[in-house]
Amino acid sequence: MFREELDNLLQKNLVRQVVSRASAQGARVTIGSQKYINFSSNDYLGLSHHPLVVASVKAVLDTYGFGSGASRLLAGGTVLHEKLEAEIADFKGTEDARVFNSGYAANIGMIPAIAREGDVIYSDELNHASIIDGCRLSRAKTVIYRHGDITMLEELVRKEQGQRKVIITDSIFSMDGDLAPLGDIYQICRGYGVLLYLDDAHGTGVLGDGRGARNHFNLPSEPWVIQMGTFSKALGSYGAFVAGSKETIHWISQTARSLIFSTALPPCVISGSLTALNLVRKGGSLIQKLWTNRKQLAEGLSRLGYDIKKSASPIIPIMTGTIPDTTRIASELFKQGIYVPAIRPPTVDTPRLRLTVTSDHDSDDLALLIRTLENLQG
Ligand SMILES: Cc1ncc(COP(=O)(O)O)c(C=O)c1O
Repeated sequence: MFREELDNLLQKNLVRQVVSRASAQGARVTIGSQKYINFSSNDYLGLSHHPLVVASVKAVLDTYGFGSGASRLLAGGTVLHEKLEAEIADFKGTEDARVFNSGYAANIGMIPAIAREGDVIYSDELNHASIIDGCRLSRAKTVIYRHGDITMLEELVRKEQGQRKVIITDSIFSMDGDLAPLGDIYQICRGYGVLLYLDDAHGTGVLGDGRGARNHFNLPSEPWVIQMGTFSKALGSYGAFVAGSKETIHWISQTARSLIFSTALPPCVISGSLTALNLVRKGGSLIQKLWTNRKQLAEGLSRLGYDIKKSASPIIPIMTGTIPDTTRIASELFKQGIYVPAIRPPTVDTPRLRLTVTSDHDSDDLALLIRTLENLQG
């Protein structure tokens, strides 16, 4: 039924494979029966397998059971969900917050809840796929601006007519690892009365002492700023949240379809997120180690002459040329016990290896990766 389309992908070297671990997530993983040093996960602080997180997941099973049985509006949630929302609001400096089932679900539910036909969304061209899908679902006019181009963004905001205007941006871009110019975006929002929807999926737990991009850029909490973030990356758990004013959270709780029409996250997942959040709040040394590792790796890659674009985060792309070159380097690394995913179109325009470094790596892991890449350069 799909033979022709699959053959077409195969010819272009674009077939993706599902990779399954036989171990916990972390800096070292088992795939098949082989051990690999892993540079593919977004588990930036190694919390997915932290003993306190794992213990807290187990601890609530006897009281709350496993499944949730219904959506939040039908008592699928628990007091743990409520506690997590209060803690997230406090952590993000907002009046209120709501938990969503994933980052993807948050974006496809939130964006249509805050923008509709007659409104205008301004979306960075490198925003995550879930934002693109959310924009499509909203039926608002979506205007794409060049990546991080503030001059273009301001011109477009001035030019377009809409009932409500919303700027949507990733904080850390998931395939390039660079940061949005959030200070300038704030100024535009303030100056023109535009709503800001910030996807801080990769910034939460990583930037600004773990509190995320708003803290990193030292920007005030404003009623016109909506911060989305995930538990699935630096917090090592699953799910997402949206933090904002009481009115915003009340409104989206009436209208975000992915919240209303989907079963709530299991309480044990929420318990793991609560513990992870607590660790991030106290997690000075974990976050420090992450950034020390990031520095070592970025310096090593630059020494080898790799273009790492404008990466300023634990996501470091290395631009490896053509699709065959990129897949060849990834499979050579794999043969030598190092797992680095090759990212190809349609996920990105330009093929690359996408490295993610975590606090779980040690200095020897990073040195080994650099040495191996150097040997592959010949
Ligand atoms: C910027 C961004 N937003 C949203 C998501 C989706 O988050 P989740 O994996 O929790 O669905 C991702 C995941 O890769 C992401 O990178």
